[in-house]
Amino acid sequence: MNSQSPQSPQPQPAAKPRRFLYFIIGLVLGALIVPAAAYVYFVGGYAPVATSAPPMPFERYLAHKALHARLAEVKLAAPPISPTAQNLLEGVRVYKQHCAICHGWPHLPRSAEAAGMFPRPPRVFHGLGVTDDTPAETHWKAAYGIRLSGMPGFARSLPDKELWEVSFLLADATNLPPPVQAALSPTNAPAFIGSAGTNQPAAD
Ligand code: HEC
Repeated sequence: MNSQSPQSPQPQPAAKPRRFLYFIIGLVLGALIVPAAAYVYFVGGYAPVATSAPPMPFERYLAHKALHARLAEVKLAAPPISPTAQNLLEGVRVYKQHCAICHGWPHLPRSAEAAGMFPRPPRVFHGLGVTDDTPAETHWKAAYGIRLSGMPGFARSLPDKELWEVSFLLADATNLPPPVQAALSPTNAPAFIGSAGTNQPAAD
């Protein structure tokens, strides 16, 4: 039989293993391309670093997803105190000393420090604030902080009772008794409040 005839093509023993090799190389390159692109993005100076720069693609979405997923996992503590007017007033004292610099004061503009942060600390006495979160959730955030955001965890530096007092204050922010509202009046605001000046966007 003529081995050159088209009916019986030359056997090509190398073809199959080579195709498999190309497949593996393609697979490896494909798997490397995303980490390589991410590496170039960060090392090549493309990622935003300045707090004034716009967020990275998916940054806000992923950060919030991670926080919510974590909060769904952890067992939140039960409040050891109740939101009496006295405890809420204590909460104002804690807030004024440790939180207002970032989270602001009712009816007043931000501090210079808060205006320069990214992510921007939410103004917890504006609109709903965190009143749609339970005090236990706010207590968890105040105790353990939020990584890569500037939100400190206070578990090591403040007594737990104080963290609960301020958490109840923020959870009840839209429905505070008159003496607590009075303690949060503009005249009682710390000096750094409003120091951001006028060159900040009015919208946030
Ligand atoms: C140095 C600035 C800074 C200080 C001080 C600070 N925070 Fe924050 N806080 C932040 C930032 C920034 C965020 C936003 C984090 C984010 O977007 O993920 C935040 C977020 C939070 C949130 C979550 C808000 C939400 O929408 O879920 C709570 C609750 C909170 N802080 C409570 C407190 C309390 C209580 C104190 C004081 C005991 C405090 N923070 C002090 C910067 C600060």
